[in-house]
Amino acid sequence: MAGKVFFSVSMSLDGFIAPESAEDLMGPQWRELQQWVFPQRFFRENLKFGEGGEEGRDNHILRETFERTGASVMGKRMFDAGERAWPEEAPFHTPVFVVTHEERDPWERPGGTTFHFVNDGIEAALHRAREAAGDRDVRIAGGGATILEHVNAGLVDEFSIALSPLLFGTGIRLFEGVDAGRVALEPVRAEPSPRVTHLTYAVRGR
Ligand SMILES: NC(=O)c1ccc[n+]([C@@H]2O[C@H](COP(=O)([O-])OP(=O)(O)OC[C@H]3O[C@@H](n4cnc5c(N)ncnc54)[C@H](OP(=O)(O)O)[C@@H]3O)[C@@H](O)[C@H]2O)c1
Repeated sequence: MAGKVFFSVSMSLDGFIAPESAEDLMGPQWRELQQWVFPQRFFRENLKFGEGGEEGRDNHILRETFERTGASVMGKRMFDAGERAWPEEAPFHTPVFVVTHEERDPWERPGGTTFHFVNDGIEAALHRAREAAGDRDVRIAGGGATILEHVNAGLVDEFSIALSPLLFGTGIRLFEGVDAGRVALEPVRAEPSPRVTHLTYAVRGR
């Protein structure tokens, strides 16, 4: 049985998931957006930052999200930013399918992450990710453009947003260009933690 297709992102209260400019992608605004992640035990373990860390609901959500994911689909801009920032043992530990116009051989990292570069669009990438994931779910890892393509094509079953208590003003807006006439949402869960509000929705067609 195939799993679900989902995405899970941190978003500012005014709807942004990243700064606009490539130079700022992992800058101070990004760090503030993701501040709820860094102290968590699971994050520290996964990136080999050492023992310890918080073990509350935020940590549990990070671990659950990781464990349900059998493969990911990713846009090239997110990959480019990550290629510079991830440690040698990239934090996915599963296959990752990067949608891109660039042709490149698979890039295998220690620890079980292999990046495959897919040049024939999101449906081909998603098909390969589903096959690789088996019973587990496929995560559309980001960024905004790639998530939006999947939402507008009716390919997303569910998504979660960690709503961070900050305002960006400008940047990459998660739902900029969404085909609102096509997408209906059903609330699944709303859960505040001391740092963010976790919102989960099922996506239905209209
Ligand atoms: N807040 C969060 O939780 C979160 C999560 C994930 C990512 N992000 C952030 O999101 C940002 C990147 O998002 P983004 O919206 O700028 O870009 P993106 O979705 O990561 O990448 C877009 C690029 O992917 C390639 N691509 C996408 N669809 C394609 C298709 N159908 N066929 C061929 N190529 C395709 C194209 O690159 P080429 O033409 O160059 O190949 C396109 O310019 C990063 O800053 C990342 O850190 C935030």
